[in-house]
Amino acid sequence: PIWSALAGCPTLGTVVFEGIEAKAKEKLKDYSGGFMYAGGSAGTNSTYRANLRAFEKFRIVPRMLTTIFGVMHSSPVFIAPIGVQGIFAAEAELAPARAAQKLGIPFIMSTASSRTIEDVAEANGDGHRWYQLYWPATQDVLLSILSRAKASGFTALVVTLDTMLLGWRPHDLETSYIPFGHGIGVQVGTSDPVFMKRFGREPILKTRTKFPYDSREMDRLYAAGDADARDGVFLGGEWLKECNSGLFHSWEELRFIREHWEGPLVLKGIQSVQDAEKSLQYGVDGIIVSNHGGRQVDGAIPSLHALARIMRSPTVKAAQAAGKLTVLFDSGIRTGPDIFKALALGAQAVLLGRPWLYGGVVAGQEGIEQVLRYILADLDGTLGLSGFTSLAEIQGKAEEVLVEGD
Ligand code: FNR
Repeated sequence: PIWSALAGCPTLGTVVFEGIEAKAKEKLKDYSGGFMYAGGSAGTNSTYRANLRAFEKFRIVPRMLTTIFGVMHSSPVFIAPIGVQGIFAAEAELAPARAAQKLGIPFIMSTASSRTIEDVAEANGDGHRWYQLYWPATQDVLLSILSRAKASGFTALVVTLDTMLLGWRPHDLETSYIPFGHGIGVQVGTSDPVFMKRFGREPILKTRTKFPYDSREMDRLYAAGDADARDGVFLGGEWLKECNSGLFHSWEELRFIREHWEGPLVLKGIQSVQDAEKSLQYGVDGIIVSNHGGRQVDGAIPSLHALARIMRSPTVKAAQAAGKLTVLFDSGIRTGPDIFKALALGAQAVLLGRPWLYGGVVAGQEGIEQVLRYILADLDGTLGLSGFTSLAEIQGKAEEVLVEGD
């Protein structure tokens, strides 16, 4: 039936009721009163409007509940941490933080955000939020960030391990996104009192990101000696050094974070069975099997294959079954069936990255909400059409619900 409906589309030009209504109105405009005979209702049309509004009041609740760290979530989808969003939209991280709260989807905030921890928390309101940490080199900065995140209601800490240095990204090198993107974009560092004290400076609480972001213009300003551009690049560079120091960290040092973070602790960027198993020895509560959306090691194993391998580890499987290790997944999720497959392979929830980012670029917060709604509806449909009524029926059941092959 969907295909035959689409076949009609070239004639009508739209499948949306309002669109067809508008076209009908246009066509009947020469027949006096013709359209209103159909479109008009009694009196002030109050009942007509109420008829439609009533449907808005009720919402279908897809049965996709999932419990992560003791909290029941309405879907198995999280907003992946994406940094420097001031490059993409004026509202930067505030838009996805608001969209996430509105749809009841957990929001993960990046350390590389263009907005402060406090501002993002406010935008997220009573939403559920986690904080993603790029592991600072110095303990006082680390503790400062952890205490700000805690005070701002971030419940879990995600430590990203795969970005001890940035991947080789030719396009970024060509457009200077690295120095300038971080120079003007990264607000969290410059809003941190401990970090700024190092330079005898007060925290900068107002965003310095200029939008639309134009790296060539920044190049020009920098070369011309513009004080703001130079200051931004200097502080951004220092912040980059502070937080891209993972090379100097070790598994043992994780214990320090564990001691100073009471909530759930999650490692992001796990791709090998060995690392997944090792994480269990360090009091870690969860892992995110991720290759950063292919942005780090070019030629790395596809993240979904990494998930399949990791879930074949009896140690990981037993820890997950005992509720000792939560397994999340990202990199490559685009559709409902993608989520279905990741869950079947053993992930308990997935992180969505570029899809909502692009929705936001096109249409702001509303675009983000639409992308999230579409993908959840797609997942719901996929579950139903595949003969299941709940996530529990497919989670970790790859052997029953998936086959390998073309
Ligand atoms: C990211 N990602 C990321 N991850 C992280 O831990 N901290 C960060 O600051 C960022 N920043 C970031 C910026 C941009 C522009 C992208 C596209 C991604 C990685 C992100 O959390 C997630 O792992 C990937 O986006 C998943 O891949 P796909 O599905 O988006 O391709």
